[in-house]
Amino acid sequence: MQEIIAPARAIEGVISLPGDKSISHRYAMLAAIAEGESTIANYSTGADCQSTLGCMAALGASIERKDGEVVIHGGALAEPAGDLDAGNSGSTIRMLSGILAAQPFTSRIGGDESLSRRPMQRIIAPLREMGAWIEARDGKLPPLAIHGRPLTAIDYTLPMPSAQVKSCVLLAGLFAQGDTIVREPVRTRDHTEIALREFGADVETERRVITLRGGAKLTGRELAVPGDLSSAAFFLVAALLMPEANLVIHGVGLNPTRSALLDFLVSIGASLKVLDLRQTGGELVGDLRVRESKISGGVIEGAMTAALIDEIPALAVLGAASSGGLTVRDASELRVKETDRIAALAENFARMGVKMETAPDGFRIEGGQRFHAAELDSAGDHRIAMAFAVAALAADGLCTVADAGAAAVSFPEFFSTLHHIVRK
Ligand code: S3P
Repeated sequence: MQEIIAPARAIEGVISLPGDKSISHRYAMLAAIAEGESTIANYSTGADCQSTLGCMAALGASIERKDGEVVIHGGALAEPAGDLDAGNSGSTIRMLSGILAAQPFTSRIGGDESLSRRPMQRIIAPLREMGAWIEARDGKLPPLAIHGRPLTAIDYTLPMPSAQVKSCVLLAGLFAQGDTIVREPVRTRDHTEIALREFGADVETERRVITLRGGAKLTGRELAVPGDLSSAAFFLVAALLMPEANLVIHGVGLNPTRSALLDFLVSIGASLKVLDLRQTGGELVGDLRVRESKISGGVIEGAMTAALIDEIPALAVLGAASSGGLTVRDASELRVKETDRIAALAENFARMGVKMETAPDGFRIEGGQRFHAAELDSAGDHRIAMAFAVAALAADGLCTVADAGAAAVSFPEFFSTLHHIVRK
């Protein structure tokens, strides 16, 4: 599917967003292994989160949709009749593997062509330390054959800042004997720890050391997923690119391990306000108002890179239009996302006549650059599709985005929501 995007003058309106992708995955997995019924409101509409529901249903959870909510009856999982399909979703395969490693049966889990290229050694290594038996293509790639076994708790220091790896170990730890400890040299999103507590597990966090007691009995819960801040990022950037903007986004998740985005935007000059801060299911939620602003340049590196990893494609677009440009360092993880995001940014910017210097673990974009009309390409990556749809709003003519349907991986309503707030 190709989208045609015309230049815009302003962004205006009031919108709400589908549920956070990261939180939706976690609620679905925990609801499926918890005793009794869970009701999840505002569950992500993205294809990735439907892949997780599909896997949990194949593992025996009963899943229904009632009045727009997802109702899950959980309990002990059962051996799936066929291969589990994680689709495009790294979160599904990596986090679910932690649960599967401890079940009394064998499962096979794989996904699409992009997922089949993504590194799995990072979860296989700690799970093996816990006693798991996992086979992978070439020893490191999906599909995985996971032969469930009794597991033992470990004390594990994350070798890279990855919430998926942390979550995989913690979910395996739920079924392990003893206390599982995960140490994080760099803080990553803590939705798993919060959700585990909500479902009744015993988890403590102290100075980036997480301790989970094995063998907890989880029970079903009623939960509401906050709007996805990583999806909001595209609209925030769209507003900040325009000479006129007044946009309110209702009910966005503002967990402090995710909201570095807002701090960064404010630090480079964004006029951004949080209107009504509240809590749901242990997660912070608020309404955001953004107005037209003068954006200066910035640097993203170290722990900040880990905290902003999903927002970097959108921020790169803002960086090119800012007065001082954007430098990103310590971001080699971008090379192993749904596509090599550094290469995909460079390719699409080149098509727009925007200069970008790349490095193995980052890039530099000078500010004050003009975006020329171009034929853009998502490379099958949802965040690249959305970032360049937003860049196209600031171009000097009509742009096309090829394979724009990739946006549906996290946000099927992206283009209709964008059209709703764009003024020509
Ligand atoms: C996620 C963690 C991050 C992020 C991904 C979602 C999660 O991945 O990029 O979109 O839900 O835990 P890594 O764990 O690979 O950093």
